[in-house]
Amino acid sequence: MKASAPGKIILFGEHAVVYSRPALAVPVTQVHVDVEVLDSSRPGIWIHAPVIDLHAELASLPSDHPIASVILKLIQLFGISQTPDLEINISSTIPVASGLGSGAAVSVALIRSLSSFLFHPLSDDEINPLVYEIEKLHHGTPSGIDNTVITYNMPVYFIKGQPVETFKTGKPFTIVIGDTGIPALTKESVGDVRLLWLRNTTYFENIFNEIAQISLIARRSIESGKPELLGELMDQNHALLQEMTVSSPELDRLVTAAKNAGALGAKLSGGGRGGNMFALAEQATAESVANALISAGATRTIITEIS
Ligand code: MEV
Repeated sequence: MKASAPGKIILFGEHAVVYSRPALAVPVTQVHVDVEVLDSSRPGIWIHAPVIDLHAELASLPSDHPIASVILKLIQLFGISQTPDLEINISSTIPVASGLGSGAAVSVALIRSLSSFLFHPLSDDEINPLVYEIEKLHHGTPSGIDNTVITYNMPVYFIKGQPVETFKTGKPFTIVIGDTGIPALTKESVGDVRLLWLRNTTYFENIFNEIAQISLIARRSIESGKPELLGELMDQNHALLQEMTVSSPELDRLVTAAKNAGALGAKLSGGGRGGNMFALAEQATAESVANALISAGATRTIITEIS
């Protein structure tokens, strides 16, 4: 049984979204996780995830291992006492710890594939809260935006704890994603922001409020077919993320390079400290923005149209 899940990019509002401010995210289908579950001729549940060099039987993994915990959760949910012998093949083109949602995508694809194989296919509405539980195990205090945008595979305007809202693009626009190649754990940047927020709550609440305004205006600009207005908003959002201490010299270098190459705006995306940034570009300049990102040290770029 095969299933897959896309990557994602947060357009606006990362970190502030953990504090119940709105954020916008879109799926990135150029990168994805694919999972196949098959009957096995040997006893046990065998997991193969070559990208993380994992070839192991379920029982040999700690129960809080990100992949093991998904499988154990499903077995428990379905009340399966006699576990079948399985081979689970996981492949991914989403770089790990890069802000593109690789962890949530593995959970979504794995739940989709395994639940169907076990004759309990789950709907997106059932998968989303399960993946959120797994995200909580591994990320501390996630907002839930990653699991939501990846499960539903649609653009989302997300506010923690509220029903999922999608948004439509009035006019397509092009973004160029650039990877610093530096892995960074979201859990750490989210934890650091929490400490700073506890120490200086008013200051951080004000930053989050400014970001909330940016997300609101960005949604309106996208829906009303004025995506060119996003450039300025991206620059403002990036400056606020810098104040939050979640940017890095490498991210800032890529942001500057993209702007110098004609991008209308640029910002880091996701947890920050490493991982990915993206820039808004005219279709005609997207290629040269991508080249400028590579010259400035990006390990890979993705040009994608948001429509
Ligand atoms: C991670 O993709 C986005 C953060 O806002 C964390 C979260 O929302 O859980 C940094």
